[in-house]
Parts: sequence; structure tokens; C-alpha cells
Amino acid sequence: MKKVLITGAAGFLGSHLSDRFLAEGFHVVGMDNLITGNMDNISHLFKEEHFEFYQQLIALRKAHPAFRMPSTAMIQKYGKTKGTEPGRIRKR
Ligand SMILES: NC(=O)c1ccc[n+]([C@@H]2O[C@H](COP(=O)([O-])OP(=O)(O)OC[C@H]3O[C@@H](n4cnc5c(N)ncnc54)[C@H](O)[C@@H]3O)[C@@H](O)[C@H]2O)c1
Repeated sequence: MKKVLITGAAGFLGSHLSDRFLAEGFHVVGMDNLITGNMDNISHLFKEEHFEFYQQLIALRKAHPAFRMPSTAMIQKYGKTKGTEPGRIRKR
């Protein structure tokens, strides 16, 4: 089964992306620090076997300012790179 990591999963775009990827048969790992997101947006997903969620800040300390405050969901495949398991975000 393919897996996706959706950051900002509790936001508007992220919650809809989570719906879509689950419907497409993916295992979805959602992360969100809930700064503007709302758990109500994803509460219906917790019954799904293939949805897991982590309240997690996703930020790179030395990132370009444009990337310090992601306002939308970014998707990246994970699982093939060591250290990218859920809840084990590597610090730079
Ligand atoms: N019904 C509608 O049409 C509707 C409803 C809501 C929003 N909108 C539109 O959607 C757009 C906003 O949607 P969006 O999904 O981009 O924004 P969003 O704020 O809904 O989602 C961004 C998510 O990222 C999270 N986040 C931000 N920084 C983070 C970080 N460093 N680490 C982890 N999580 C982090 C936030 O908590 C939030 O859940 C706007 O244009 C808005 O007008 C439309």
C-alpha cells in the first residue's frame, strides 16, 4: 500500500487531500500543529484504519522565510528514507 504524508492535514486543503488519498487507497499520515487548523476537519477520519495523525510542528530552523509558515498542505512520499517515520522528524 502506498503511503503519503500530508502536512497541514487539519486545515482546509489538507483535510480534503486526506479524504481524497484515503479514497484512492493510500495510507495517510497527517501532521499539523493546529496553529490555524481544526481537529473538527479530520474527526471523521479517525475511524479509518489507514489514517494516522500527529500533532507536530513542521518547520526547518534555517529555512528560507517563505517556507517558515507553510499556509497550505504539502505532500511528500515517505517511507523510503531512513528517519522519516511518523513522529521522527529530523532536526537540522
Ligand atoms: N469553504 C471554503 O471554500 C474555504 C474554507 C476554508 C478556507 N478556505 C480557503 O482556503 C485557503 C486556506 O486553506 P489552507 O488549507 O491553505 O490553510 P489552512 O490554514 O486551512 O491549513 C493550513 C494548515 O497547516 C497547519 N500548519 C501551518 N503551519 C504549520 C507548521 N509549521 N507545522 C504544522 N502544521 C502547520 C495549520 O494548522 C493548518 O491546519 C484560503 O484561501 C481560504 O480562503 C476556503
